[in-house]
Amino acid sequence: MSSESNPTLSAVKAGGWGGTTSAAVAGEEARVLRGCAENARLQEQARAGLRKAREVESLDALLAEVRRIAALPLEKSETLPKEVYTSDEFFAWEVDEVFSKEWFCVAHVSQIPENGDFINLDLSGDPLVVVRDKSGTVRVLSRACPHRGMDIMPPGFGHDGHGPAVRRESSPACGSTRLFLCPYHSWTFELDGRLKACPEMQQAEGFERDDWGLKEFRAEVWQGFVFVNLDGNAPSSVAEQYAELGEHVSKWNTAGMEIVVAREWDVPCNWKVLTENFMESYHHAGAHAKTLQTIMPAKHTWTEQERPHFIRCHLPYKAKVRDEIADAEAAGGHWEAFPAVEGLEGEDRFEWGLMLGYPLFTFVLTPDQLVWYRILPTGPDSLKLLTTVLVPKSTIGHPDFGKMLDRATAEAVAFHLEDMEVVAAVQRSLHASGYQRGRLSHLEMPIWLMQRYLAARARGTWPGLDHPPAPSQR
Ligand code: FES
Ligand SMILES: [Fe+2]
Repeated sequence: MSSESNPTLSAVKAGGWGGTTSAAVAGEEARVLRGCAENARLQEQARAGLRKAREVESLDALLAEVRRIAALPLEKSETLPKEVYTSDEFFAWEVDEVFSKEWFCVAHVSQIPENGDFINLDLSGDPLVVVRDKSGTVRVLSRACPHRGMDIMPPGFGHDGHGPAVRRESSPACGSTRLFLCPYHSWTFELDGRLKACPEMQQAEGFERDDWGLKEFRAEVWQGFVFVNLDGNAPSSVAEQYAELGEHVSKWNTAGMEIVVAREWDVPCNWKVLTENFMESYHHAGAHAKTLQTIMPAKHTWTEQERPHFIRCHLPYKAKVRDEIADAEAAGGHWEAFPAVEGLEGEDRFEWGLMLGYPLFTFVLTPDQLVWYRILPTGPDSLKLLTTVLVPKSTIGHPDFGKMLDRATAEAVAFHLEDMEVVAAVQRSLHASGYQRGRLSHLEMPIWLMQRYLAARARGTWPGLDHPPAPSQR
């Protein structure tokens, strides 16, 4: 595989927008990115050796092992075979049987606030554009031109100035336009995907313009997040499958929030390595020992009962932090980076809530913000990640917002860098001949739930629908 075709070998880079970060954070970021690039290089070396040295387990054998592991009780739980995180064949199964069949979160409405706004992304090899059309409807269209297949807005090929689309300078994947123009033979499309004009096609016999629009995928907006279902056959709507989660999430009025920090990263790891890391808080004791562990100690974190479509975890603040919050508020200020979201009560004010909507809708609700990780897997060993921070509009209007944003940006980047180091190094070790399968702590219940999810998808169902759901840890 050439370095060009392998995202893990291409330069590991980060970009995006938000507040400013200090020289110390920028230095730390440069160090971690260099480390990630080095891990990716060594990983590719190990991967090449692995292919030569041994037969990779067959897909059937791997799925059988996933089912066996997932049937173990939490107290006996083990980690999955490494090939589940490294094999091309297993990744291809996930693309076909998991990503394509499930609802996948691709955007937030604040990224496309006006009619004509769009955002481009690539999901499982599908170049997509999420667009708000002239009537205000949010649609997800393929960017593959129905003429000869050209990507109508190919990234990085110098077509940015072609046609009416204006790209956002801070993020060229976003922009606004009144129609889509394919740069190859200049077919034009309405924002709802219909073919508007196609020069010199009058001699093509039987050609009907109405038959040749951009392919539209099934899409749904839930709590301000835009979801796509690539195969169009998901048995329930997003609103149905997340109904119980929605009752909780709606307290943050996430549809009215706006993205104030957006940072893009090429991460050299499997999507499950990143999501497992995102969802288990056991690693506060290690990777975040000096940061999150001092606020939300690992041993007090817990996971709710098994649900068919999502995982919900609680990360309570320790008593000292609750006292500091009371002191800060008594003095008319706030303890977190931003003022608390209006209307939050009880435990919602004193903990972080980690959520995973299967397979990859990952976000954290904190008392003052929502942190959303948009994860786009690009191969067994790589993914594109957009880390975002969302806050209510009222927060943006605060006179000290600039200062708050700097702090929130620095924190979001710093926590993420601590995670990047571990996920990149884990992925590399998954290729090592000395790698050993491990055992899980009860604090890693989300990892065990994700195993049960994969096993359920292999059976064509969802967790808890064909067996009793695992109980809550509290
Ligand atoms: S490929 Fe798009 S117009 Fe020809
Ligand atoms: Fe972490």
